[in-house]
Parts: sequence; structure tokens; C-alpha cells
Amino acid sequence: MQTLPGFRDFLPEECAKRNYIFARWREVARRYGFVEWEGPPLEPTELYKKKSGDEIVEQLFNFTDKGEREVALRPELTPTLARVVALHEREFKKPLKWFSIGQFFRYEKQQRGRLREHFQLNCDIIGESDLTADIELVSLCIDVLRAFGFTEKDFAVRISDREFWTDFLREKDVPADRWGEFLQAIDKFGREPREKTAEKLGNLADAVFATLKSGGKSAKLEALVDGLRARGLADFVEIDVGIVRGLAYYTGIVFEVFDRAGKFRAIAGGGRYDNLIGQLSDGAVSLPALGFAMGDVVLGELINGIPDARNAIQKAIKRDTKIDIYVVIAKEERRADALKQIQQLRDRGFLVDYPLTPTKVARQFQAAEEAGASLALLYGDEWPQVKVKNMATAQQELVSSEGLLNRVAELL
Ligand code: HAM
Repeated sequence: MQTLPGFRDFLPEECAKRNYIFARWREVARRYGFVEWEGPPLEPTELYKKKSGDEIVEQLFNFTDKGEREVALRPELTPTLARVVALHEREFKKPLKWFSIGQFFRYEKQQRGRLREHFQLNCDIIGESDLTADIELVSLCIDVLRAFGFTEKDFAVRISDREFWTDFLREKDVPADRWGEFLQAIDKFGREPREKTAEKLGNLADAVFATLKSGGKSAKLEALVDGLRARGLADFVEIDVGIVRGLAYYTGIVFEVFDRAGKFRAIAGGGRYDNLIGQLSDGAVSLPALGFAMGDVVLGELINGIPDARNAIQKAIKRDTKIDIYVVIAKEERRADALKQIQQLRDRGFLVDYPLTPTKVARQFQAAEEAGASLALLYGDEWPQVKVKNMATAQQELVSSEGLLNRVAELL
């Protein structure tokens, strides 16, 4: 009777919360001129091998299907996006600004903020290498979070640049085939014992630790922050070259979003991946790209933890789950008349409910209350008139059944 570990049932209340999150995601992505797209939930396992980084490949939910194909539930959207863009890019003007909302699966140890399924908003820009696109993307990420009622006191976008480190490694004459190893060690800094990181970094350890301590600087990162400052968003970001990100395909600016209180795991993450489309298409299509994904799990925890965001979601759920009209059938002889009008009211687009079987009048009014109905319509001795009750003010009036639809439309 239990769900599998790391999977969730969405009872109506959780579903309403999820819909609220999706609605804000969609609203702000569209505000930025992004268009929605979607890919399949199952892909060939091959798509994720090498391209995503070891961590994600270890976490694949994969199996052999009945046609002997090696397949995996998608752990993320980016490889699918790269595949789809390589196939279809000629049909679209660049840059593409695409967003998607979907479910993802990672076979990881269940812990706070990390499950085996989660939903993500993905926003990606394809075909633009200018830093203006990076600024636009980070702004979008900030504005999505602001739409939930969060302020710069609640979260920060920590920004870094893979090139900062690749320049550093080049300068130190580290061969390119070892960069991945070094980046991974830097990524794990702070999450594993310092000696272990030092061991992996070898004779570069002191230089890396010193750079992490001093914060690191670059003209590109400064230009990025300047661009955000011009939009009034600089207070939401911090330069932090300790952010590397586990995924293998990033090539430039990378960022992760954390709550300021440091209580939760990352809310969102992303960056530039200028080579992935070229790699996946064996060089057939080469386009610069960048994007981020925001998950619903940590976001949900943060909403619960911040009073303004929590109030906003509760208010919205109340508004979005209430009905317009509850029809009270006081006399069973009137059920057929009531049903005829219920059909007409629903055809007009009103949200209408009523008792399916004979029920005491008091219980019907209670149901009307619980459903948040604005009006109750009572079908009983007054027929062919209908008693209309305003549930908020308790005011009642008698309306002829022919005039009912128009009167209801005036009242709602
Ligand atoms: P990611 O950092 O692996 O990036 O995931 C993005 C966000 O998804 C995380 O910050 C977190 O909120 C959420 N998330 C990831 N794994 C889990 C999990 N097991 N349970 C709950 N939430 C989770 C990517 O997926 C990249 N593909 C993002 C991207 C898009 N890069 C470019 N475009």
C-alpha cells in the first residue's frame, strides 16, 4: 500500500500546491518570451552516458525494455533538448527560448530535498553566445522565485564561471584531459574533508584553496553582475567560484540558487553548455546554449518556510479550488428540474456541484460552505422560483427559474 521509496502521492491539497508552482513557472517564463515544449520521459540510456557526468549516470533509473533496448527514465532534460535541437533546429529562428515543465527520475538515496522523482522547470536559450543571454537567463531565474513572494533576503544565486577554472588549469599546465577530475574535486570542496580534496588536487591544492578563500574575480563575472545591477537585481546574486556543478557539459557561466538561511539543498541550477549539441550530433549541428532547471521539492520546502510565500500559496489555493455554485435539492421532486439547470449553468462555464443522492438540507448547506461556493441555489417548495443565497452575506432572494441564469451571471 506504500509508494516506492522517493515517490510521492499527490492528494488534492498537494496537487493544488503543485499546480500553483507550475502556474507561476509558466507565467514568468512566458513573461520573458519563452515558449513551451516537451520531450519523452524515456530515452535511450546512451543519451546520458558520458555527456551528463558520473553522478547522474550512477543515478539512472534504467532497464532493458521488451525490445532489448537499453532505456532510462530521464534524470534531466538537457540531453533531450540537445538531441531535439540538433534534429529540428532548422525549423526555428535563433535564438530559441524554450521552457518545459516535467517529471524527472533519479535513483538516489532519499533524503531531505532529494527524492527519486521530482518536477522541474527547465528554461534554455539556444543559439546565442553573447553574455546578454546569460544575464537574461539569471534574471528569469530570479524573477521566477520573486513570483513566489521571495525577496533577496530569502535566496541568493551563486554564480561562477567554468572558464575561470579552465583558465587557471591552463595556466598551471594541467593537461585538458585531467580538467574534469580537478573540477570535480573543487565541486566537492566543503562537502568532503579538506584533506581528501587536497589529495585530489595534489600540488595545486594550496593555490585552489587560496583562490576559493579570496573569492576569485574575472571581467566576465563582473560584467554579468553589472548587467543584473542595471535591472535592479544585483542584490540577488553572489560571485562564488566554489560553484562548479556536477554535470560534465557546462563550459561557461554556471550558477546555483540557495536559500539564504542555508537550510536547504539547491533550489535551482544551470549554466552555459556551448559544446553539448555539437557533441551529441557528432558535429552535425553546433550551437551555443545555456539554461537552468528549478525543482519543485526544495522550492516547496522554502515556500513552507517563508511566511509571505506560504500565505500567498494558501490564498491562491483557496481561490483556485472553490466552486461558484452549490445546488441544494430541498425536495427530491425538484431533482430533475435542478439537474436541467445545473447542466445549463455548467454550459455557461460556472463551477457547479450538488448532492448525488438524497441528503438533508442542513448537510447540503454545509457541503456548500466547505466547497467555498459563492452562491447556493435552493430547489424546493418555491419552484418554479429558485431561492438564491449569497453564502458570504447570507442574503437571500427568490428568482424565477427562467431568469436564473442571467441573475446568477450578475451576482458572480
Ligand atoms: P540539476 O542541478 O541536476 O540541473 O537539477 C536542477 C534542480 O532540480 C536542482 O537544483 C534541484 O532543485 C532539483 N533536483 C535535482 N535532483 C533532484 C532530486 N533527486 N529530488 C528533488 N529535486 C531535485 C539539471 O538538471 C540541469 N539539466 C539543469 C540545466 C538546464 N542546465 C541547463 N539547462
